[in-house]
Amino acid sequence: MNELMGRLLWLPPQASTLAPKIDSLHYFVITVTMIASTVTGLLAFYFFFKYRARRAEQSTPMVLPSVKFEIAVIGIPMFFFLLWFVQGFKDYIWYTTPPKNTMDVYVMGKKWMWKFAYAGGGPNAIGVLHVPVDRPVRLLMTSRDVLHSFYVPDFRIKQDVLPGRYTETWFEATKPGRYQILCAEYCGTWHSQMWGEVVVMAGPEFDAWMVEQKAGLAERVDTGGDDGGNMRGSIVEYGKKIAMSEGCLRCHSLDGQPHIGPTWLDLYQRRETLENGEAVIADEAYLTDSMIDPRGKVVKGFKPVMPTYKGRLAAPEAAALVEFIKSLRSTSLENLPSKEATYEPAKPSQPAQRR
Ligand code: CUA
Repeated sequence: MNELMGRLLWLPPQASTLAPKIDSLHYFVITVTMIASTVTGLLAFYFFFKYRARRAEQSTPMVLPSVKFEIAVIGIPMFFFLLWFVQGFKDYIWYTTPPKNTMDVYVMGKKWMWKFAYAGGGPNAIGVLHVPVDRPVRLLMTSRDVLHSFYVPDFRIKQDVLPGRYTETWFEATKPGRYQILCAEYCGTWHSQMWGEVVVMAGPEFDAWMVEQKAGLAERVDTGGDDGGNMRGSIVEYGKKIAMSEGCLRCHSLDGQPHIGPTWLDLYQRRETLENGEAVIADEAYLTDSMIDPRGKVVKGFKPVMPTYKGRLAAPEAAALVEFIKSLRSTSLENLPSKEATYEPAKPSQPAQRR
């Protein structure tokens, strides 16, 4: 049934855990609406002949439907619309809540290409995103110039990518292979060729590939010696360098002491109370927003004195700073309250944890 409908609707293969969910709702909606519109169309034709004017002076009699009929005509479509809403809402919540154990990748869209940087250190890439099969991957996306939209038809994911803020999406690929990335938001002359490719590899193959890439990186980049020999490497170190050169550390301490600004130790995923009493979780989006618009959401007890870094920090630099902040934990990463920052090779059979 799934295959038949997929062919009838010319759909691309289903290559992620989201795809069957999207498709089954799609099939359900389109089947019901096609049947209803066919019946409506045929009835219209039938009535057209049945109630045609037989004599010139004859006019259509007034028809008063029964209450039961009215309830049915309103109730049945309403029932279906509500059913679709409920199912769609469930799927939406599922799709917008990434599992905890995601592998994070930073994505930057710019005219007219996609750039990828692995959060746990690792290679940067243009146009080609390597991911393992059967493991959830979270994309933290931003744009350097205009609106783009990250679209992988085979995964049924599409998410706008905006300058000056981060959006996120996630997927779990179910079949090894190569899948096209498109841009789904008109962004200028070569929008239609803003292509990329997701290469989904078998788990062990991907791990080997990543180790190889990191070994290659370690030869080229001096990652410094103070991160305990683990693989967090380049992007965190890069973030640290930026924090020093941009003067962030003059106001933000790394040891838990509040200074002119909040400390960065354990800042990631910390619940902060703002001046106006609202609470925020210091996630990637909040941290990035605070660099671009530092006076927008000031933490209670601090003065809004931070200058904006809009235009001073390029997106990869902001991402590196966020990764640096994420690496500053007083307890081990296993005790991280929420989203896991480092990438741990998961056993392929391990089901994704729901947040
Ligand atoms: Cu980028 Cu269209």
